[in-house]
Amino acid sequence: MPVMTTPIMSESEVRAAVERELPGVRADLERLVRIPGIAFDGFDHSHVERSAEAVAELLRGCDLDVKIVRRGGQPAVIGKKVAPPGAPTVLLYAHHDVQPVGDRSLWESDPFEPVERDGRLYGRGAADDKAGIMAHVAALRAFGDRLPVGVVLFIEGEEEFGSDSLEQLLEEHREEIASDVIVIADSGNWDIGVPALTTSLRGIVNCFVEVRTLDHAVHSGMFGGAVPDALTTLAKLLATLHDDAGNVAVEGLVGREGASVDYPEDRFRAEAGLGTGVEFIGTGRITDRLWTKPALAVLGIDAPATGEAPNALVPAAKAKLSVRLAPGDDPKKAYAALTAHLEQHAPWGAQVAVTFEHDGDPCVIDATGPMFDAARSAFRTAWDGTDPIDMGVGGSIPFIATFQEMFPRAAILVTGVEDPYSRAHGPNESLHLGEFARVCLAEALLLAKVAAAGANRS
Ligand code: BES
Repeated sequence: MPVMTTPIMSESEVRAAVERELPGVRADLERLVRIPGIAFDGFDHSHVERSAEAVAELLRGCDLDVKIVRRGGQPAVIGKKVAPPGAPTVLLYAHHDVQPVGDRSLWESDPFEPVERDGRLYGRGAADDKAGIMAHVAALRAFGDRLPVGVVLFIEGEEEFGSDSLEQLLEEHREEIASDVIVIADSGNWDIGVPALTTSLRGIVNCFVEVRTLDHAVHSGMFGGAVPDALTTLAKLLATLHDDAGNVAVEGLVGREGASVDYPEDRFRAEAGLGTGVEFIGTGRITDRLWTKPALAVLGIDAPATGEAPNALVPAAKAKLSVRLAPGDDPKKAYAALTAHLEQHAPWGAQVAVTFEHDGDPCVIDATGPMFDAARSAFRTAWDGTDPIDMGVGGSIPFIATFQEMFPRAAILVTGVEDPYSRAHGPNESLHLGEFARVCLAEALLLAKVAAAGANRS
């Protein structure tokens, strides 16, 4: 007997269904934003538990089989609905933990009380990445019991804290989560009104460098002039990390030119909030500097606070460094190159000690094939005829490389809700509600198109 299948919903049916679901999706997004689930050490992790529970509840409401899983770290939520006969399975990834809020005085409204201003919803996690979760939920709700594909929702609970247990969770649940297509909704679009597929991300190496010149602090008048203080020495060492043009000067890091689009400089200047007269650093196209070349930043320094600093030579000072690695680079080799550079450039014979914090792989995605065609077509429709561009991003999602290794046949679509004004990780993070509606529609259309394109997994 032939298998009875429900026809895939038409484009206009999908559009109407997403429209119908948006108010409820918005309300549930606000509910999630009110939960301050931060996975960093030193924060109250009971909120991450609550956040996992809230996500589990949302997924149960979509008729999925749901469980909360963990492996030492913070809880992830897995929700599954088996594919209709012959249909492909799609893994939908997002994360429910958020970044710390930093200096609250810089927020114009409470980070955990979502508010709308000028068409944007403000709050920590409103974009990164609770809206990613809700885009998945919106698509599932739009189809209801007519979902044309199988789905596995994987909603992680510690992405912002380095995804330490993710690899083990993926290994343990490998069979359950194996899919034909993987949608990672943790990136963004090119501009408001212009969709994008993210096709490359940089890797990352974070480490600390400590410089010591003295075994104790000494009077700056009695010893200054003949004895180096550690802070000047550290500043001199840090200054060797870039050449005069601002390119990273560490030998052995991978970098190349050749990004597919350029970034208009004025637009980039405005988005970055670069001060008047402040120059860009590095050479070549902006997109090359952001996507296909390394970047190095000093994220923090441990040294006496200026308000309390006595007239004494500082004996030791420590900086936290972060290197963004170009696609094709290897975090272990990059860390070795950076360590060698710091040791070889120690000013005035100072003692230099480098310690590792964490790293993550870069990735490049070959965005060709029927599933990418399906995604591009869904995006074009959701953005009223505007073609999506293939873009790189300078940020990192290290576990994409893990997905690539574990599921080499799956098409990996990196999507997301962020736009250049989202201020993810910073104060006043926000979500553009108009773009969010398009993201939800695009994801629902994508599922319909993936179903039509059929399974590619053998
Ligand atoms: N969503 C970001 C990655 C991202 C950044 C995508 C910029 C698109 C544009 C992700 O949540 C993130 O912030 N990742 C961390 C790395 C991780 C190892 C902590 C990052 O890039 O700092």
